[in-house]
This record gives sequence, C-alpha cells and structure tokens, in this order.
Amino acid sequence: MLKLNILLFVLLSVLAFTIYADEIPSTLKLEAIIFDQHPSLDSNFEPEGGNLTPGLVKTSLNQVSRVPELVSTAQTALNNQGRIKSPTTFKWWFASNPATNVPIQSPMVLNYQDRSGVYSYSNSYFFPIDGKGWDATGKYRIYSNGSVNHNFHFCLKINSKFTYKGTEEFLFVGDDDVWVFIDNKLAVDLGGLHSREQASINLKSSTLGLKVDKTYNFDFFYCERHTTASNMRIDTNLEVFCPYYDYCGVCSGDGSTCCNAATTCNDNKPCTIDTCPPWNTVIDSGKSISDYCSHTPKSCPNDNQCYTGSCNTANGNCQQTKITCPPIACQVLIGCNNSTGCQYKPKCSGPCNTGKCDAQGECIARDCQGSDPCKVYSCDPNSGCSMVDKCPQLDNPCIIASCSANGTCINTDISQGGKCCKDDCDDKLKPCQYGTCDTDGKCIVHEKDLEDGNLCTIGKCDPATGVVSQDPVVCDGCKDCAEGNCIQVDANCDDSNFCTIDACSASGNCTYTPTNCDDQDPCTIDTCDAKEGKCVHTPLVCPDEGNCQVGYCSAGECKVKPRECPATGAFCLITECDEAAGCIVYDKRCTSDNPKCQRGVCSNETAECVSRDYDPKPFICKTAAVVSTAVIAGVTVAGAVALGLAIFGGKKGYDYWKETHDNKISMATENPLYVQNPASAENPLYTGNT
Ligand SMILES: *[C@@H]1O[C@H](CO)[C@@H](O)[C@H](O)[C@H]1NC(C)=O
Ligand SMILES: *[C@@H]1O[C@H](CO)[C@@H](O)[C@H](O)[C@H]1NC(C)=O
Ligand SMILES: *[C@@H]1O[C@H](CO)[C@@H](O)[C@H](O)[C@H]1NC(C)=O
Ligand SMILES: *[C@@H]1O[C@H](CO)[C@@H](O)[C@H](O)[C@H]1NC(C)=O
Ligand SMILES: *[C@@H]1O[C@H](CO)[C@@H](O)[C@H](O)[C@H]1NC(C)=O
Ligand SMILES: *[C@@H]1O[C@H](CO)[C@@H](O)[C@H](O)[C@H]1NC(C)=O
Repeated sequence: MLKLNILLFVLLSVLAFTIYADEIPSTLKLEAIIFDQHPSLDSNFEPEGGNLTPGLVKTSLNQVSRVPELVSTAQTALNNQGRIKSPTTFKWWFASNPATNVPIQSPMVLNYQDRSGVYSYSNSYFFPIDGKGWDATGKYRIYSNGSVNHNFHFCLKINSKFTYKGTEEFLFVGDDDVWVFIDNKLAVDLGGLHSREQASINLKSSTLGLKVDKTYNFDFFYCERHTTASNMRIDTNLEVFCPYYDYCGVCSGDGSTCCNAATTCNDNKPCTIDTCPPWNTVIDSGKSISDYCSHTPKSCPNDNQCYTGSCNTANGNCQQTKITCPPIACQVLIGCNNSTGCQYKPKCSGPCNTGKCDAQGECIARDCQGSDPCKVYSCDPNSGCSMVDKCPQLDNPCIIASCSANGTCINTDISQGGKCCKDDCDDKLKPCQYGTCDTDGKCIVHEKDLEDGNLCTIGKCDPATGVVSQDPVVCDGCKDCAEGNCIQVDANCDDSNFCTIDACSASGNCTYTPTNCDDQDPCTIDTCDAKEGKCVHTPLVCPDEGNCQVGYCSAGECKVKPRECPATGAFCLITECDEAAGCIVYDKRCTSDNPKCQRGVCSNETAECVSRDYDPKPFICKTAAVVSTAVIAGVTVAGAVALGLAIFGGKKGYDYWKETHDNKISMATENPLYVQNPASAENPLYTGNT
C-alpha cells in the first residue's frame, strides 16, 4: 500500500511537472542586488537637482568586474552635469564596500502580461529597501518625500545572461541613472539625476549584432539618488537567467556581499594577508565562511644579502634580521658584505699548505721533505719550501765539514799540527766569504753559498755581518712563485662570492666573471643566490588576463590562450568561461521556432532542442495569423496595439497606424486590447480571452 502510494505520488509529480512545464511561466525573476547608499557617506547621493546626462560611463562593460566605469574619474563638466560629485566613490555604487554601502538581495518579480506577451514590473513608489540597510542601523538620517519616510538612496544591479531568441525587447521607464549593457555593450544610457525618462531597445533592430541561440551577458544598473520620487518600470520578453550563485546566494556574485576580507577573514595575525574564499567555494553545513578564508604569509623581500626580511608578528611591519653565516669546510669566515653575502677566505692558504683540509678540518701541510740525508728541509710561511746543507762549513778554515751517506756530519781537522792557514785566512776573508786550507796551509777563499735549494728564494749575504738570508721571489699581483716561475693562482683572487668565477690573469690581475646560471630556458629567470651559493631558476610567471585568458610562457615571451573548461558530458549542460567568474556550468536554454508561443525543450538523450507549444496557449498565440504580423513587427506593446487596430480598422487602418506611430512603443493603457468597447464595438479579444 505504501509502495503504491509512493508510485502514485511519483507519477503525479511527474504529471504535475509536465503540465506546469508546458505552461508559459507566469513570472520572471530578476536577481537584483541593491547597495544601500547614504548621502553622508557618498556625496553623489542627494546632490542638487540635475538632468539626463548620457555619456558618463564607458560604452564597454568591464567584463571582469561587470560594473560600469566612468569615462573620467576627474571632476569634469560632464560628471558635474550628471551630478557625479565624487567620481572616486562611483566604484562603490554597484560593489560591496562596508564603509559606504550595505548590500541587500532584492529580487524583482515581473509578471507575464498575457495580452502583450511581455513580462512587466511597474512601480511609481519604488522603495524596495525602506527600513533596511542604513535605515535599520539607525545611524544615519532617514529621508522624507514630504509626507512619508523613504529610503531614497540606493543602487541596484542585475548581472545575468540570456539566450537570444531573436524577438527580445526591453523597455525601461524611471529615475535616476539607468545603464543597460547587452553583450557588454552599453545599450541604454539614462545616466544622471533626472525625473522619469524612458528608453527602449529592440535587440533585433539594434546594432548589437546578436546571433540567435547564443548566450550573452545582460547587465542592468539603476540608481535612485534623490528625493522625492522613485519610479521603476520594466517591460520585457528578455528571459534573463542567473548562470551561477556565489556562496552568499548572490546571483553572479563574487562573495563580496557576505565576506569581507578585513573582518570575516581576519585571523588577528598582522603577518598574514587574509582573503575571502573564491565565489564557488562550497560551505559545508556546520562550517562558516571564515573557515574557508585563506591566510597567506606576508612576504617581506629584501636584497640585502646579510639580512633576511621577515614580518614582525607584533605589528605586521617588515623587519630585517641578520643572517648567521654557515661554517664552510676549510674556509674562515671574514664577515658579511651587504651586496655579496657571507665572506670567507681559504683557511689553508700560504706556501706551506696544500690548500686542503683533513677530515678533522686541520690544514694539510705541504710536504717539503726530500730524501737527501745531508739536507735539512723546512718551510717558510713567506717563501715556501727550502733546504739547507746539514753540515755547513764552519768559520774555522782548519776544519772541513762533510756529510756521510748516512747523514752524519764529519768535521775533518786539517790543521796538520799547526800548519793550518787560520792566520792567513783571518787576513784575507770578508764577512761573506769562508776559507779552506790547502795542503801547504794556504788559505783558499770561497764565497758563501747563497743557494738554499729553493728556486723561489734569492739568497743574499749581508756584507757587513756576513749573515746569509733568503728573499722570496716577488710575483706580480695574484701570481705566486712555484719552482722558480711566477704562475697564475686563482685562489689568490677568491672574493668569497659564490656568484663569481675568480681567476688570475696572465698579467697578474684578478678577474671576476659572474657565474653563468643560464639554463638555456628563456621561460625561467636565472639568478645566482649569493646566500646559498647556487643558481636559481625561477619560472617566468605569465599573468592571466581576466579569468578566461590563461597566461603562459612561450620562447621567453608571455602569451595568453583561452581557458578550457572541463566538458560536462551532457548536451543540456553548458560549460563556458565567464570573464567575471572563470569556468561556470549552467543549463542550456533552448530557443524554439516561435518563441512567443512555444518553449524550447532540451534533451540530453537526443542531444537536440525541440519546440513545444505552450499549453495553454498564451493569448497572443490564439489569433495566430494576425498576431504573427504584429509580433513580427517586433515591438511587443506596439504589436498588441497594432493587433487591435488590425482587428478594428482592418489592414488599411493598421498600415496607417504603423506609419504614423513609426513603431514607437505606446503605453499599455492606450492599447485597445485592454478596453472593453473600443470605437463602441464589442471587443472580441477582451471578452473572448481565458
Ligand atoms: C510620498 O510617498 C507617498 C507614499 O509612498 C505618496 O502617496 C506621496 O504622494 C509621496 N509624496 C510625494 C511628494 O512624492
Ligand atoms: C661588498 O662587495 C662589493 C662587490 O664585491 C664591493 O664593491 C664592496 O666594496 C664590498 N663592501 C664592503 C663593505 O666590503
Ligand atoms: C648593511 O646593511 C645594514 C642593514 O640594511 C645596514 O645597517 C648597514 O649599514 C649596511 N652596511 C654597509 C657597510 O653598507
Ligand atoms: C755512519 O757512517 C760513518 C762513516 O761511514 C760511520 O762511522 C758511522 O758509524 C755510521 N753511523 C751510523 C749510525 O750508521
Ligand atoms: C692589471 O692591473 C694593472 C694595475 O694593477 C693595470 O695597469 C693593467 O692595465 C691591468 N691589466 C689588465 C689586463 O687588466
Ligand atoms: C542533462 O544532463 C545533466 C547531467 O546529467 C543534468 O544535470 C541536466 O539536468 C540534464 N538536463 C536535462 C534537460 O535533462
């Protein structure tokens, strides 16, 4: 029984839906959002009276922000005429800004007019936010129209889309500013502070160049800026729809009406940049928007190689902290240079070192030892390795020094019982000489040996004292002496900058060639990090243009390509890139062969659109033959007027009317269809309609 009931219910639901779906929708909902403004927060509201001023806003809508922009943000004569007293705050007319406005979702419901086939909204006391917004805060003065208090200061916007059927029209009557953009082009321009004005647009006859079945943006902007009247009338058969909602529930919203980065997302950490979640974030139940905020650490860049930039968590200011230079094996830290970073010098430099360290970090000394047991080897920190005879001649010419094969010094006394030449030598020798005796006891004079076996020293003897000493060979600049030759030593040019290649030139000058960090990829920025001592290849970031042009790098140049949105896999589900929102998905709107009498139905299964008659038929479809002439004439209200004339005055009358009215839209009240007995004859359409 229960099962049967459910089945019945399902059947009935399907049936009910089918019936409902074939009826022409009786209402059209415009997803408007109102930004409540106040004269004390924006001087553009309640200025002295003005007049209609076209040309205030740019003729192309900014597709990303989808709000109008002033042609000039200066205090031009035109802005003044349009009573834009504060051009810089114009940007908050249609965008959330907690300091000057309060956003309020305020859908407008247009009712289907069976006789004219259009949806209509008409209100000459258009005060949709009385008692709301700033009124509700009680903080600011409430304005009066003389007898009643009304909220006279607000701006309304509708960001929507429509699929062009080929028959659409749009009529607006009201005060004050109105701008309508179709396909991002300005189509209605009633800017300025003015009393009731009217504008209409026939999408077919206009210069918009729309293509049937294509979907376009429809953006409507309206401001009420002044006491004491507020009129609003819209007549249209433009079936706009909302392609997407943000997490605030706002149609085509960006999240800004319910998320404010400075308040909603404030994590009270001055070192993070708080951002609201992207519009399409799904807020799970039990969670709040603030759970989805992002908090990016504030970056504090600096190019001082000895300091790192960081953010002071107490006040959010960037501060510099001195880096600690890391120890480097076999190098001694000298200090830090602001432009080149940590400075080191080789620990084991000098002619007595190999330049290398052992595992314990101790310098490995140069081996100056030779194999001759008759030499004494040593290293001089200035001149390097040297050797001297182990057994030098003594000052006494009677003793001959020699060295045996096992390195033992043997002093042979040749004085031969007093016959030595000591006295003879004492007479002859200068301080830099020494003597030996010959067999006859005569003194043989020798010059002292200045050679120490080190080719990089030059021996000399002090003529006054006879002391033999060694001077190192002096080489130019960065060259050092090795085996008697001056050779280029790159290590002498070490500037401790990892980002230069240090070399000693043939002329003895140091050269510093920047490290070649080129990775041959023109899409990376190659730099050398002196702190880390390595090449850094940062990919070139090519910025996106808007939300639908993706930036990429090609051969070193930034280019953009259209964003590709993932396919939905269903014929009736459209995916496309919207400049304001990125990839969006919405139901396909099918057009029909005769949009006024038929609806287009989309089928995933057959992947096609079919036309289905509305059931019941709208009034304008009942007298098909006449109606089609009138309808095709294009102007809905006028069409209905024409229809009446065609019926009452015949084709001649209709032609006459058409000529005299030049297709201008007439007020619905003048429409003979709405009058029971025009020309004192029974109106069959008036009585006959059901
Ligand atoms: C003020 O508003 C009331 C009701 O909203 C209306 O009846 C009246 O005519 C308005 N007065 C003026 C001066 O517009
Ligand atoms: C730091 O290094 C640069 C480049 O090598 C040099 O010109 C400058 O004199 C150095 N500054 C100090 C304070 O040593
Ligand atoms: C290095 O940078 C620090 C921090 O900016 C600055 O205080 C210091 O004076 C600089 N030193 C030299 C030698 O320029
Ligand atoms: C070294 O040689 C000398 C002479 O040839 C000899 O007298 C002496 O004993 C030797 N010394 C050693 C330690 O072998
Ligand atoms: C080397 O330096 C000297 C001065 O020290 C200079 O006169 C000479 O031109 C330099 N040579 C080169 C090749 O740079
Ligand atoms: C078509 O299929 C998609 C994906 O399953 C679905 O979301 C959509 O409602 C379908 N539309 C129609 C008209 O059946």
